[in-house]
Amino acid sequence: MINTENKPIGLYIHIPFCEKKCNYCNFLTFVNNDEQIEKYVQYLIKEINLYKGENIHLDTIYIGGGTPSYLDEKYMVQIVDAIKNVFVLEDNLEFTIEMNPESVEVDKIKTYLQIGINRFSMGVQSFNNDVLNIMGRLHNRTSVFKKLALMRELGCKNISIDLMLANPKQDIEILREDLAIACKLDIDHISYYSLILKEQTYFDLWYRQGKIELFDPEEERKMYHEVVDTLVKNGFDHYEISSFAKKGLRGIHNAKYWTLNDFIGLGMGAAGNISRTRFENVRDFDSYYELLDKDQKPLLEKEELSIEDREKEYLMLNLRMMKGFDIDQMNKKFSIDFEEKYKDILEKNIGAGILKKENNRIKFTDYGIDNGEVFFHELYGLN
Ligand SMILES: C[S@@+](CC[C@H](N)C(=O)[O-])C[C@H]1O[C@@H](n2cnc3c(N)ncnc32)[C@H](O)[C@@H]1O
Ligand code: SF4
Repeated sequence: MINTENKPIGLYIHIPFCEKKCNYCNFLTFVNNDEQIEKYVQYLIKEINLYKGENIHLDTIYIGGGTPSYLDEKYMVQIVDAIKNVFVLEDNLEFTIEMNPESVEVDKIKTYLQIGINRFSMGVQSFNNDVLNIMGRLHNRTSVFKKLALMRELGCKNISIDLMLANPKQDIEILREDLAIACKLDIDHISYYSLILKEQTYFDLWYRQGKIELFDPEEERKMYHEVVDTLVKNGFDHYEISSFAKKGLRGIHNAKYWTLNDFIGLGMGAAGNISRTRFENVRDFDSYYELLDKDQKPLLEKEELSIEDREKEYLMLNLRMMKGFDIDQMNKKFSIDFEEKYKDILEKNIGAGILKKENNRIKFTDYGIDNGEVFFHELYGLN
């Protein structure tokens, strides 16, 4: 039993299947493994059912991956039926699904709308076909336009797209073109990520072989500011380092991660956080099935973080948000006097122009957004 103190929490569901592995991605996801899909969904439902009778209320659900839209829509119906049987869904539920453009199809969208999905997050990454090509994506610029129009036509109201900056082949001109297109599109939200070079990806291999070049940190920061300035000028609210919303449509589910609010994560490799405890599921099919066969939650050995570590995690995550965090809330959550306990590091970083205090909140300055690692290194005593 988990104790949610009767407050609504979030639910993340992980779908670890994709049609093709992108050249930059090392998320937990599998290609050419379609024979697992049926079995995986049945075990995922088994895992959902372990929460029966716990009277858990949900105000956000996020089905992510991998590529949830790669699955036949019948599986999404089964998963959502199970969720509705087990959890109590709040009236104001935010219910997001991640999709790739190539798997956006009429029947899928109609089904998603019927089962209550009301937020659609599509991975676009770039509108430049050369960039998309080197990233190993299966779509192109034209297909994105078509799929977005189709989604609106079918009644999708809250649409978010993922874009990436500092991709190989994406110079500042291409970035500006991507931005100009994004600003004209009929979308409600953008997540704009800087490329991170991940191990065991083609990008990593090609970089080490000298086949691709990456941008140096200074250029990457220049691109990031170009993104922020352009999107803000075009009416987007920059509310988190990588997140931009129109018409007040900030993502509610992801904000639970940044504020260490409660959420559970189901499916292979999914993570959750209840109160001050972090949970993480096993990351391979065999262990996932084996534990669920024993009616056990498929959790990895739990690593209990110390209160000190949780405090630091809270600081790091909250500072991702432009509004930072409220000192009183931090004090209450951890029963501390934040300004007293972190006096030295706070004074030093405010003095260095990295952090600022405004209306009893601590947040990064513009300079701090680019140089926040100085603060984090000090926080973790790494210097
Ligand atoms: C895990 S994917 C799932 C969504 C969907 N499968 C897709 O690719 O569009 C979520 C997002 O993470 C971002 N992402 C994946 N790998 C990344 C990397 N190495 N660096 C930065 N962002 C990355 C991409 O923008 C992607 O859309
Ligand atoms: S970026 Fe999305 S589609 Fe590409 S491999 Fe990762 S999860 Fe799959």
